[in-house]
Amino acid sequence: MPLTPWIAPSILSADFARLGEEVDAVLAAGADLVHFDVMDNHYVPNLTVGPLVLKALRGHGVTAPVDVHLMVKPVDRIVGDFIEAGADYVTIHPEATEHVHRSLSLIREGGARAGLSLNPGTSVTVLDPVLDLVDLVLVMSVNPGFGGQAFIPRSLDAVRAVRERLDGLDREVRLEIDGGIKVDNIGAAREAGADTFVAGSAIFGSDDYAATIAAMRAQIG
Ligand code: DX5
Ligand code: ZN
Repeated sequence: MPLTPWIAPSILSADFARLGEEVDAVLAAGADLVHFDVMDNHYVPNLTVGPLVLKALRGHGVTAPVDVHLMVKPVDRIVGDFIEAGADYVTIHPEATEHVHRSLSLIREGGARAGLSLNPGTSVTVLDPVLDLVDLVLVMSVNPGFGGQAFIPRSLDAVRAVRERLDGLDREVRLEIDGGIKVDNIGAAREAGADTFVAGSAIFGSDDYAATIAAMRAQIG
């Protein structure tokens, strides 16, 4: 069964000049998890922030769980830096590592929870050999690289396929969806089986973070 729903604002759409205040504001507005997008201008055609910025947010006083979404290739060398900086979840893309099993193990051995992310063009079967090593599965509902892209409806099929796999387990694994999530499609994502909802532009682009998060929560129960 899907877990208690969590809403995870993506910092990608925050005002980076005021990042600490922006993160404080979404948490005060009811967010459950901070989604921290890391892009490297190699695996994806964009460049964002690294472990120093996560460390700065922790130093600023952010104690909420942080979900680090690594769109970085190669990924193994940098995993430990994010764990040391304060990541709770570290999520990788299978295309960004030569050895998915090893990368997920590294995350867990470092003391964080491990996530595997599936792009719209990635088969959910990549999950099967490593199902026992994941604490979170991230279904991308856009191609990774940018905020503000249009939701790809077909990604709900991937959510359903992952849901079936997770329902067969006897432990809690989060099923997260990321990309183009808004008030008007979050309900469909919940129905398909997601329990963790990333939203960047829908929250940070709104005038009232609390009202937007409340409107999202009303759709997912
Ligand atoms: C895209 C990122 C997303 C992005 C979501 O590569 O992984 O987390 O920030 O932004 P929206 O909600 O605007 O699609
Ligand atoms: Zn993301």
